[in-house]
Amino acid sequence: MKAEGIDVVSFAAGEPDFNTPTPICDAAIEAIRAGFTKYTPSSGINDLKDAIVAKLDRENHVRATRDQIVVSCGAKHSIYNSMMALLDPGDEVILIAPYWMTYADQVRLADGIPVVVHTRAEDDFVPSLDDLKAAITPKTKAIIVNTPCNPTGAALPRQTVKDIAALALRHGFWVVSDEIYERLIYDTEHQSFAALGTDIAERTITVGGCSKTYSMTGWRIGFAAAPAAVAKAMSNFQDQVTSNPTSFAQKGAIAAFELPDMAVEAMRTEFQARRDLVLGLLRGIPGIKVREPKGAFYVFPDVGAFLGGEIDTDMELANYLLEEAKVATVPGTVFEGVGHLRMSYAASRENIEKGVARIADALKKLV
Ligand SMILES: Cc1ncc(COP(=O)(O)O)c(C=O)c1O
Repeated sequence: MKAEGIDVVSFAAGEPDFNTPTPICDAAIEAIRAGFTKYTPSSGINDLKDAIVAKLDRENHVRATRDQIVVSCGAKHSIYNSMMALLDPGDEVILIAPYWMTYADQVRLADGIPVVVHTRAEDDFVPSLDDLKAAITPKTKAIIVNTPCNPTGAALPRQTVKDIAALALRHGFWVVSDEIYERLIYDTEHQSFAALGTDIAERTITVGGCSKTYSMTGWRIGFAAAPAAVAKAMSNFQDQVTSNPTSFAQKGAIAAFELPDMAVEAMRTEFQARRDLVLGLLRGIPGIKVREPKGAFYVFPDVGAFLGGEIDTDMELANYLLEEAKVATVPGTVFEGVGHLRMSYAASRENIEKGVARIADALKKLV
């Protein structure tokens, strides 16, 4: 529709709308000019691994060594490597719904079976311990935990992280901890699994990257920190599939991890202001129920009040909003979050105001 010149307001983006900070771009450009354009070691260059080790220590209180780090073409690639290294056919992987849909497909690609634990909006999308316990079987090989979460914006309380870690240790399964949104967190603190103790660190693959924190989605740099034997298996696998992540993007990533906190803080503060703006506007629409997200850049309103009549599902509602209001959202069903919409507030304040006003008008017609 945009290509046809139609003025669509998009709340669908999964990426920050800021430019990549200049020092990062400069580092990559300098690397290209200096001829740093050839293959590198498959699991990444040592300087970048050292920068990641330092970042994990400083920001996450996670102790790792160079041989535990595998740099990949985005966190998505790191999670795929984790699944391929960990899973045997028929192994089960627990997912906490609503979840980023890639997880289920990557589990299946590795011949595993996704086992879904549902959460409730009333619980701020935090899983109950009983529901998690009920999902564990002798076939459980791993759980994928994403905090802060895409699509709900939930950030797990420290106690929940501890409870999941205790289950993993008791039942001997792995935690794949997707921490890609760790720096975009509001009014609470991020808790890394691997920081809880050496026992759980030996059962955890911590996944992170540059995409969301530094607005580097197109650079394709992510990383995993895992026990050395697992890191070696992931690195061997990656070696035969993609070889190294792009050489000069790795140089940019070093500059990213060395960026002063202030630069990230400016983006985080702006996202928090936009979160508050979109929340206030959505709460002004009769029928919409929305929880306050604690992280990432998504709100996940419950639109159940508008379903069941002429428009039956969140999929149909998203289509209706696109056609009627010229506003793009993502239906919750995509994330196993039926009856919701995911709206990214990685959009200008002006577009947030314009887009939500259009949604309000279109929903009024349904009522
Ligand atoms: C929860 C989650 N994990 C991982 C990723 C992938 O990040 P990357 O760009 O580093 O592959 C995304 C991107 O949308 C995401 O939402």
